[in-house]
Amino acid sequence: MNKDEFSIEVEDLCKRFGHRTILHKVAFRVDRGETVAIIGPSGAGKSTLLRCLNGLCNFDGGTIRVGSLVLRSGRRPAPFATLRQIRQRLGMIFQDFQLFPHLTVLQNVTEAPIHVLGVARRDAERQAQALLDRVGLADHIHAFPQQLSGGQKQRVAIARALAMNPFGLLCDEITSALDPELKAEVLAVLEGLRRDGMTLILVTHEMAFAQRVADRIIVLVDGEIVEDGPPARVFRTPEHPRTTRFLEQVLL
Ligand SMILES: Nc1ncnc2c1ncn2[C@@H]1O[C@H](COP(=O)(O)OP(=O)(O)OP(=O)(O)O)[C@@H](O)[C@H]1O
Ligand SMILES: [Mg+2]
Repeated sequence: MNKDEFSIEVEDLCKRFGHRTILHKVAFRVDRGETVAIIGPSGAGKSTLLRCLNGLCNFDGGTIRVGSLVLRSGRRPAPFATLRQIRQRLGMIFQDFQLFPHLTVLQNVTEAPIHVLGVARRDAERQAQALLDRVGLADHIHAFPQQLSGGQKQRVAIARALAMNPFGLLCDEITSALDPELKAEVLAVLEGLRRDGMTLILVTHEMAFAQRVADRIIVLVDGEIVEDGPPARVFRTPEHPRTTRFLEQVLL
């Protein structure tokens, strides 16, 4: 596969809910191995953007390319096969973990490889154990989600996403529900993944983390990208007054 098989390209993405425009001509590109943090005020459209990228909602204009896979605007959802391939290439992780409560940690991680990819149970379990080891949960594989801390649950969710062998992860405020210490655990896992070459698109309120690890910062305000550049520039010399106002509020 060539390099472009691992790029994400968004062109003129428009999304409306009823008469309200939520995303307006959003365009950006993320190359393999890049870490991009998307920041912006509440209601700016950050979660909606990630959901569009993952084929979780349709949109009203523009295109999204994940390698050679294309999502186009329209009322009809993309073909199931395309959605499945996109979700395999880009894992998504949510603020509220969304683990299966009735399955153990190990079963949460092996579920999709076995039932979606058709991996043999024994192989899926071996891979899951390695992934859970990597996120520091080797001792909890037979626990149920309710027996885990928030940070542990989020690390299971990361292992579960990694079990599909994606090239990228879409993370929607995945540390927002966590205490500072547990946040640090999860952010450390993300940093490790970044070092290993995973492409990361992070919607986050963790400004210090974004500033430290992101290659680029995208600022989304009222459904429009008002800033897309390296952290040093966006944080020190923002081009748009809305960015300045937003940063003043969050960096207080
Ligand atoms: N299913 C929906 N139906 C109607 N409006 C929606 C729907 N989902 C989101 N919206 C609206 O779209 C806008 C963008 O929402 P979104 O959740 O993408 O914002 P966000 O930037 O992720 O905000 P936050 O930082 O609070 O998570 C909001 O005004 C929200 O009310
Ligand atoms: Mg959101």
